Amino acid sequence: MQRRAGHPPGLRKFLWGVATSAFQMEGSSRCDWTHWSVRDEADRKARLNGVGHLARTEEDLALLTDLGVDAYRFSVEWSRVVPRRGDWDRREMDRYVRIASLLREAGIEPVVTLHHFTNPSWLVGRAGWEDPATAEEFLRYAERAVRCLRDAVRVFITFNEPNVFVAAGYLGGVMPPGRRCARDGFDAFANVFRAHAAVYDMIHSRGRERAAVGVAHNMVSFQPASRNSALDGWAVKIAHSFYNMGLIETFRTGTFSVRVPFLMDEETPVGVRDKLDFLGVNYYFRMFLRMSPLKLKGPEYFWEDRDGRGLTETGWEIYPKGLEDVLRSASLSGVPIVVTENGTAETDDARKIAYMKEHLRAMHRVIREGVDIRGYFWWSLMDNYEWLEGLRPRFGLYRVDFETLERRPTAASSYFARWVRRRKARDDASRSRTA
Ligand code: FCB
Repeated sequence: MQRRAGHPPGLRKFLWGVATSAFQMEGSSRCDWTHWSVRDEADRKARLNGVGHLARTEEDLALLTDLGVDAYRFSVEWSRVVPRRGDWDRREMDRYVRIASLLREAGIEPVVTLHHFTNPSWLVGRAGWEDPATAEEFLRYAERAVRCLRDAVRVFITFNEPNVFVAAGYLGGVMPPGRRCARDGFDAFANVFRAHAAVYDMIHSRGRERAAVGVAHNMVSFQPASRNSALDGWAVKIAHSFYNMGLIETFRTGTFSVRVPFLMDEETPVGVRDKLDFLGVNYYFRMFLRMSPLKLKGPEYFWEDRDGRGLTETGWEIYPKGLEDVLRSASLSGVPIVVTENGTAETDDARKIAYMKEHLRAMHRVIREGVDIRGYFWWSLMDNYEWLEGLRPRFGLYRVDFETLERRPTAASSYFARWVRRRKARDDASRSRTA
């Protein structure tokens, strides 16, 4: 069973929250995603302005109080506060500090992500994560951002889903920088780990009791397309050990290694051993893998509705049991876990609520087994810009009208608020019984 590791600051009691990221809410004209392929005018506008959060920050933060959540996960957009190499936009940074302070005043724990997929465009063409120079620039930005935020913020996430942006950016080529080069991908991942280690040490340089530092790790429930196929089973084993467990192993051992037959057999020390106060888990779906002996390039992957719950608007299979499986795997990290993202794109509120209910129940089953889980964040507070799909998928608890930018509560926001209220009342009652 998982070792119960102390109580990191900010995570002493269970956090019920919602999550967003700066670019998806605010857009930015200064980051690499604006250079990325743009589908249409609405897409272009959303990349520049997100869903108008900049002009509605306070109004949006007030929704958190309506929901009754304990925490809000948001990110700082690197390209806004460092618009050009060596520059610092104080006004932009002040805005993030203000968000954190407003949350603190409202009794809501700010959980801040320092890197959520986007790099400033001034880095593009010079360097990507495969170049150690990017890690150095990131550290310069992170040092200053943390200095500004540290009075109000106790929980930091250095990186959101390194496995996603490295795999999609350097293997699949579907996210910036749009490459297909495993060697660069390996170096990129190693540099992300090194940057995490440096930021971890920097945040803790004034004592460990002040803040908790983690990463948000995307985990997938991989299953063989056919139970009778040894090759499919083999592909699942490799995908699980690389995609799900690679990051966890690296934090355990301090060495990043990738061993994928025919592709790569490499390892390098990255200095992250034990530099993790909590592990964030982002879980959305189960994925099937099919390996054909004729295709050495890798398995085919797909979603399929095998249990009759249907697929979501992003085509993902709804599979609550997968959350249990990935949380058990995540517990091998030996540090407390926070579900930093879970959610679904559904216009139909009843379907969104069914997803929520089943996943929350799945998480509670794992908590009852004794796995140390300290929080749950729904993705997302409101509909926003989805990386590869633009404005179509509706992940929000609040529905956004993209013409007027009006935010509207939904049956799912009321359901989540009710769930949180009941759970908090139950936890308070059990705390006062044991006190
Ligand atoms: C995750 C991302 C998040 C959001 C959800 C749907 O992979 O971290 O920004 O796009 O998917």
